[in-house]
Amino acid sequence: MSNPSLLILPGDGIGPEVMAEVRKIIDWFGAKRGIAFDVSEDLVGGCAYDKHGTPLHDDTMAKAQEVDAVLLGAVGGPKYDVLDFSVKPERGLLRLRKEMDLYANLRPAQCFDALADFSSLKKDVVAGLDIMIVRELTSGIYFGEPRGIIEEGNERVGINTQRYTESEIDRVARSAFELAMKRGKKLCSMEKANVMESGILWREVVTEVGKEYPEVELSHMYADAGAMQLCRAPKQFDVIVTDNLFGDLLSDAAAMLTGSLGMLPSASLGKPMANGRPKALYEPVHGSAPDIAGQGKANPCACILSFAMALRYSFDLGAEADRLEAAVEKVLADGVRTADLLNEEGRTPASTTEMGDAVVAALDASL
Ligand code: NAD
Ligand code: IPM
Ligand code: MN
Repeated sequence: MSNPSLLILPGDGIGPEVMAEVRKIIDWFGAKRGIAFDVSEDLVGGCAYDKHGTPLHDDTMAKAQEVDAVLLGAVGGPKYDVLDFSVKPERGLLRLRKEMDLYANLRPAQCFDALADFSSLKKDVVAGLDIMIVRELTSGIYFGEPRGIIEEGNERVGINTQRYTESEIDRVARSAFELAMKRGKKLCSMEKANVMESGILWREVVTEVGKEYPEVELSHMYADAGAMQLCRAPKQFDVIVTDNLFGDLLSDAAAMLTGSLGMLPSASLGKPMANGRPKALYEPVHGSAPDIAGQGKANPCACILSFAMALRYSFDLGAEADRLEAAVEKVLADGVRTADLLNEEGRTPASTTEMGDAVVAALDASL
């Protein structure tokens, strides 16, 4: 039987820097655990535009559809701000998500003990935090029509449309309930049913799906109140399910509960393929971080932890995912810190490479 296939798309900015550390981890699993992958690499984002004049070449899109999982670094950067909207780096990522139909975006926010002191929130608010945000990823205001910038009278109007069908809400709700069943059996759905019809429908459909999961305690919250509760008492949540835009905002906020955006991984999952595995793309929640790109300062943990999610959700290697997550936790407990995880003056931060090497050493120590 052939090895499982991985397509790696490092992208722009710190993307290639953090992905280089993931390559070390992939190599480690091949050499030390006999878990080999057929790895191919390609371009996405600004670098793809530079080479092909498009942020995602059709050949790359086709490859992404064929592999068992895609690993992505990050896209974007100021160099590309001047480009036409249709070829901006971010369009490449959105095309991957849409065409692969990756409707369920899992964004876990876990506060490792070693970082509980580091969060900008009080230690007792975040210590032991372990929540999962399920963000709908292929619809809503990101993709709704009509959209565009039009002339109206003597001025321009920018238009985007929030639009959700019942089936789109139903399928992401099911993913969230299934996750809740495997976790703390609590699900909070967030929308703005007080002001948006799409929110009213969202609440109705989630409630309906909930009848099939009587063991899961379902609650509903307006997303603005949810943002407040995430900062006030985040440990009240287990799984949160929300739409594309609210999920984007709430997951960046949740990142700061864990200490740094450089810690948050994600899995974007679609329908099962012929082999039973879900279509899947794994990427850190953070972006290309142009302010630190090329300086060896980026924290590779979010990308490394995204690979751990790939081991768990695409390859049924939950025990190996646990091993990798434990290795990251050990490295943090040992005090290895990239600059984003340090606030004491005078301490020299670990570089991206040193952090990756430390995770590999911790993996060795786990054998
Ligand atoms: P960003 O996530 O790139 O950076 C926000 C802040 O967090 C910056 O100060 C950055 O230095 C810091 N940061 C992010 N990741 C880090 C890491 N791994 N280690 C240490 N510090 C880290 O968000 P932004 O600045 O708003 O966006 C920059 C570009 O990235 C934009 O073009 C945006 O569209 C793009 N973006 C891409 C993705 C993606 O590819 N999935 C996600 C978000 C933003
Ligand atoms: C994310 C990013 C993306 C989004 C951008 C880069 C398209 O912010 O993955 O969170 O808005 O979904
Ligand atoms: Mn985002």
